[in-house]
Amino acid sequence: MARILYGKEFAARIKASAEHGAIALRAHGVNPCLAVIIVGNDPASEVYVRNKEKACAELGIRSNHIPLPAETTREELLACIDELNADEEVHGILVQLPLPAPLSESSEEVLSRIDPRKDVDGFHPVSVGHLFLGTPGLRPCTPAGCIRMLEYAGIRMEGAHAVIIGRSNIVGKPMAMLLLERHATVTLCHSRTENLAAITREADILVAAVGQPHFVTADMVKPGATVIDVGINRIAPKKLVGDVDFEAVEKVAGAITPVPGGVGLLTVAMLMENVVQAAKAQTEAKGE
Ligand code: GUN
Repeated sequence: MARILYGKEFAARIKASAEHGAIALRAHGVNPCLAVIIVGNDPASEVYVRNKEKACAELGIRSNHIPLPAETTREELLACIDELNADEEVHGILVQLPLPAPLSESSEEVLSRIDPRKDVDGFHPVSVGHLFLGTPGLRPCTPAGCIRMLEYAGIRMEGAHAVIIGRSNIVGKPMAMLLLERHATVTLCHSRTENLAAITREADILVAAVGQPHFVTADMVKPGATVIDVGINRIAPKKLVGDVDFEAVEKVAGAITPVPGGVGLLTVAMLMENVVQAAKAQTEAKGE
C-alpha cells in the first residue's frame, strides 16, 4: 500500500513559513495584502476564491475581494488592474480563471496587465521568463506547491525520471521547468503522445494534470512510483475525483496524493507564500 501524501500536512508547513514572513513584515509596519478579482459567478471559481480568502484570514494576510459582473468589459477589467497596480498597499493581484466569454479571449492581455512584481499566480510573461531562466521570481502556485511537498516528504527528485501528463501553462509546463531545476529528467506528455502507458511506466515521479477522471490506471504506474494527482473533476454534484484511479493505483504506487485533500491545499498555501514573497520584495525595493 502506498504512502498517502495528505495535502493538509504539507500545506500546514508552507503556511507556517508564510505566516512567519507575514509576522516579520507586520513588525516593519507592512501589512501584506492580496487583491482577488472574480468576474461573473462560476460556482467552482467562487469556491476557490473563498478558500483563498479563508487562508488569508487564517494567516493574518489582508484580502481585498473584488467581484465584478459577468458583463464587465475588457476595458473595465484592465482599468481595475491598473488601479490595483498603482495601489502601494496591494502586494499581490490575482484574476481568477477562467474568465467568462467573451472576456476569456482577452485572458492573456489581462494577465499581462498585472504588475509582474504583484503577479502572485506566476502567470505573467515576465514570471514565466524567470521560471524558464531559473532566475528569482514568482512561481505558479500549483507546481511550486507540489515541489515543496516532494521536498518535505523526502522524495528524491535529483536524477529521477519525472513524467508529466498535460502541457498546460498553469501546471504541466511550469512543473516541467521546476522539476528540471531540481535535476530530474523530465518527460512532458500530452494528448497526442504515442505509447503513453509505456512512458508513464518508466516514471519515478508521475504527475497527472489531464482533467479526465480516472485517466491514470494501475497498469500505467511503475511499482513504488510517486504519483501526484493535480486533477479536480466533478463527477456528481458533491463528488470530486482526480485524474488518477486512486483505489487501484494506491496498490502499486510508493506514494500518492488523494483528491480531494491533496494538491488543492498546496496551491492555496503556496499562494500565501507568494503574497508574502511579493510584499517582502516590494518593501525591500522601496528601501524600507
Ligand atoms: N483557476 C484554476 N486554477 C487557478 C489558479 O491557480 N489561479 C487562478 N487565478 N485561477 C485559477
